[in-house]
Amino acid sequence: MASKFFDHGRLERNISLLGIASLIVVAIGGIVEIAPLFWIDNTIEKVEGMRPYTPLELAGRNIYIREGCYNCHSQMIRPFRDETERYGHYSLAAESMYDHPFQWGSKRTGPDLARVGGRYSDEWHVQHLKDPRAVVPESIMPTYPFLAERELTAGDMRDDLTALGRVGVPYSKDDVAKANADLAAQADPNADASDLLKRYPKAQQRDFDGNPARLTEMDALVAYLQMLGTLVDVDAAKPQEDQKGEQPR
Ligand code: HEC
Repeated sequence: MASKFFDHGRLERNISLLGIASLIVVAIGGIVEIAPLFWIDNTIEKVEGMRPYTPLELAGRNIYIREGCYNCHSQMIRPFRDETERYGHYSLAAESMYDHPFQWGSKRTGPDLARVGGRYSDEWHVQHLKDPRAVVPESIMPTYPFLAERELTAGDMRDDLTALGRVGVPYSKDDVAKANADLAAQADPNADASDLLKRYPKAQQRDFDGNPARLTEMDALVAYLQMLGTLVDVDAAKPQEDQKGEQPR
């Protein structure tokens, strides 16, 4: 269509000209997205309460990854009403800032787990992981009874913390040095956890698998599940603008 100012017909019939023009248009879009990143220091808003994983939580997280729980579970609540009503406040970027690799997942055969911490008792989790049908009859989740049998052989947690430190997780020298002791202390209800709690606020210390005599993989995995979504007070961190004008719940 010929316009008074610009002959679009010519552009459409000349492949080189069209190519160059397309490139310019795409470049503008790219610059608009990329340029701001050169002027802002961080794309993740800091929120209070976020801290790196304790060694025990981290060991549990490693089991979560090893067992492929992420194949059926996401850890990212999207800012839609159906999601926030079911799972809680939508996930904040800062809540997965220490996740390497992140566990957002891409498929929900089971529910989102980003805020599952504290929703059930430890006993429930142990039962559910041993045999999901025992607590949720219609469940199709696989059974993981061996987790309660297997001794937690997390290896040297100092290596895990050091590796995460290299990609920017702020573990202190003290955290790294005490990693193995911290791992054992968090699952031992009789251990003195004051030092652990000082360095890892809101860390939950207790026997998680119902068997205080042993430190099992179940201890680590349940410790991990029970902390998910519990660190940040999301309602205080951000006004819930998306809820404005909606029916009170
Ligand atoms: C084959 C898919 C599948 C895999 C793999 C799987 N789950 Fe599930 N999970 C489900 C389904 C489906 C449900 C919902 C029914 C139920 O509660 O059992 C569920 C529920 C859960 C719940 C309860 C969530 C809630 O809010 O009620 C937790 C916790 C959980 N799974 C943890 C795990 C962990 C940890 C692993 C890895 C060790 C895992 N799941 C592996 C499918 C799966």
